[in-house]
Amino acid sequence: MKTPVLAPSLLSADFSSLERAIKQIEDNNGSVVHIDVMDGDFVPEITYGQPVVRSIRKLTKLPFDVHLMTWHPEKQVKTFAEAGADWITFHLEACVHAHRIIQQIHELGKKAGVSIVPSTPISSIKEILECADIILVMTVNPGYGGQKLIPSCLKKVSELKKLREENNYNYLISVDGGVNNDTLQSVIDAGADVIVSGSSFFNGSLNWKA
Ligand code: DX5
Ligand code: ZN
Repeated sequence: MKTPVLAPSLLSADFSSLERAIKQIEDNNGSVVHIDVMDGDFVPEITYGQPVVRSIRKLTKLPFDVHLMTWHPEKQVKTFAEAGADWITFHLEACVHAHRIIQQIHELGKKAGVSIVPSTPISSIKEILECADIILVMTVNPGYGGQKLIPSCLKKVSELKKLREENNYNYLISVDGGVNNDTLQSVIDAGADVIVSGSSFFNGSLNWKA
């Protein structure tokens, strides 16, 4: 995959027509569909679950990155894999046995992503960098679209890039939250491989050069 790639987040789509939203993603340089799953507890709101993923799976061949903002992600990975997720990304802060969950996702034949909120340092995920396929750096506090990017979080992206070079790791670095035309270049410069965009993609303002 030639990076950086754009991963539009369905969170900011018009839910009354997810078919149209998927088409917008395909027609506007989206390479991955980012699907934010919220449980109303790890984050305040509730979005959608496996039945929705299952139903939109038939609309596109693009990979689905399911971003689980849920407690106990280990209870969800199998059913999201069966529903059609290609990448399953869970929060380090939502579980104890991150390493085991990565193994569980790999056993299901899917890519494993680990996400960290703005207050979590890279040192907390050092032990799993070797086996994760994606590290998703949240650049806003998770839960809502349309927030402002926290610039200090981008230091973690550069740090991950350096660690990958030094250790020959293979993960992709993904950035999620507050990406718009004012912040896009700083996210690319920091070294992101996958750039998630919700509100600026779906309001048509994001100027992504393919
Ligand atoms: C926020 C979600 C994001 C969200 C990003 O908790 O994880 O994926 O859709 O939205 P924007 O791009 O509007 O910040
Ligand atoms: Zn997300």
